[in-house]
Amino acid sequence: KPPQHRKGSLHDVPEALLKELEQLESVFNVSAETLRKITDHFVLELEKGLSKKGGNIPMIPGWVLDFPTGKETGDYLAIDLGGTNLRVVLVKLGGNRDFDTTQSKYPLPATMRTAKSEELWDFIAGCLKKFVEDEYPEGVTEPLPLGFTFSYPASQSSINEGFLQRWTKGFDIDGVEGRDVVPMLQEAIKKENVPIEVVALINDTTGTLVASAYTDPETKMGLIFGTGCNGAYYDVCGEIPKLEGQFHGDVAGESLMAINCEYGAFDNELAVLPRSKFDHQIDAESPRPGQQAFEKMISGYYLGEVLRLALLDLSAKGIFFKDQDLSKLNQPFILDTSFPARIEEDPYENLSDVQDLFQQELGIQTTDAERSVIRRLAEVIGERSARLSVCGIAAICKKRGYKTAHAAADGSVFNKYPGFKERAAKGLRDIFQWETKEDPIIIVPAEDGSGVGAAVIAALTEKRLREGKS
Ligand code: GLC
Repeated sequence: KPPQHRKGSLHDVPEALLKELEQLESVFNVSAETLRKITDHFVLELEKGLSKKGGNIPMIPGWVLDFPTGKETGDYLAIDLGGTNLRVVLVKLGGNRDFDTTQSKYPLPATMRTAKSEELWDFIAGCLKKFVEDEYPEGVTEPLPLGFTFSYPASQSSINEGFLQRWTKGFDIDGVEGRDVVPMLQEAIKKENVPIEVVALINDTTGTLVASAYTDPETKMGLIFGTGCNGAYYDVCGEIPKLEGQFHGDVAGESLMAINCEYGAFDNELAVLPRSKFDHQIDAESPRPGQQAFEKMISGYYLGEVLRLALLDLSAKGIFFKDQDLSKLNQPFILDTSFPARIEEDPYENLSDVQDLFQQELGIQTTDAERSVIRRLAEVIGERSARLSVCGIAAICKKRGYKTAHAAADGSVFNKYPGFKERAAKGLRDIFQWETKEDPIIIVPAEDGSGVGAAVIAALTEKRLREGKS
């Protein structure tokens, strides 16, 4: 539901606080003109990423070179190592564009972000073992092929490998960066003695692109607005200078290749992004300062943190949360995205949920005026996220010359954050200034990329191997 309009409800807010709020509103506000400037720079950065020299945006070729026919059959496993859960999916492809899926989610232990490499792979292999035992109590005869959705920047020169460039989204597990994650997972699976073969490594955006292209031919890109933020699209191999000399098998200049942009790294050198002091602080205190500049301003992992820092800033000025115990609010990352999302869901006239949230989760008693300010802050932070997010979509369309497009989107922020979809659509209208009645470029909900998409890619990979293609 679209966020309600509010301004009027701020009338009880004392003058000094209102002034500070207006100052913060202007910090988070992104004008249509700024969006257009960012988009133009974005197009250049996409191109730079494809050049031999490279740039901030990794633009990783995904080696997905075939389109599904819909006739693919068989049982495939897919796993998705996201920011919060490990999802295991069994996909039974029916051969007639149909499929059945069964899935389980295993929450990542809170300490996993900074665990040891082995703990991560053992955890995944353990979950897989449990899953396979439940789904196949009678055992399996042939090893099950598995598509591994690994939602981090991983370099590939073929589909069944992925060298982690660097962790993103707050992950910081030693001994993985610079290495191929496929053998590490395969090794752990072997130790558990589960009959599974990892056949493909896929980024979540690439999976989303393929799964959605499978059901909707208008799909031009796959996007994730979740814990992280990223997009994938198809580009022409001959126009990817850094691929020169790497073509093998049947890959020709005119073939299309799925590119995982990794555009969370857009503008790491800060040429155009309107970074606030809160964004600077988040970056400086993160495990990888100087990286993922764009993502750190917009994705789900950071939204609650931006809000937390803005609230602490008000309180440091002595005009907010007076005489309250802020020990909880002082803990970094204590507010996950569901926190600002719930604040925005609470109707303005009432804000009783905001009151409960602060009381129960943070031990803070809020006044009426504070609740209105909190609500307004969540809005401007959410709005900034949605507006900046669409610059990636606009840039891909401009680069590829798409006048119309379906941009298939998934992720917790897209699916659950109130008002995100409307704000994103408005952002695109601000960039393109269409005069048509219907928007020619629209964001649509994606098919399940890391389940069905990964399974279809695994099936395509097996087929290529059977046909002797690399
Ligand atoms: C981060 C990861 C990227 C992923 C995105 C969404 O940006 O680096 O690989 O696609 O999050 O999950």
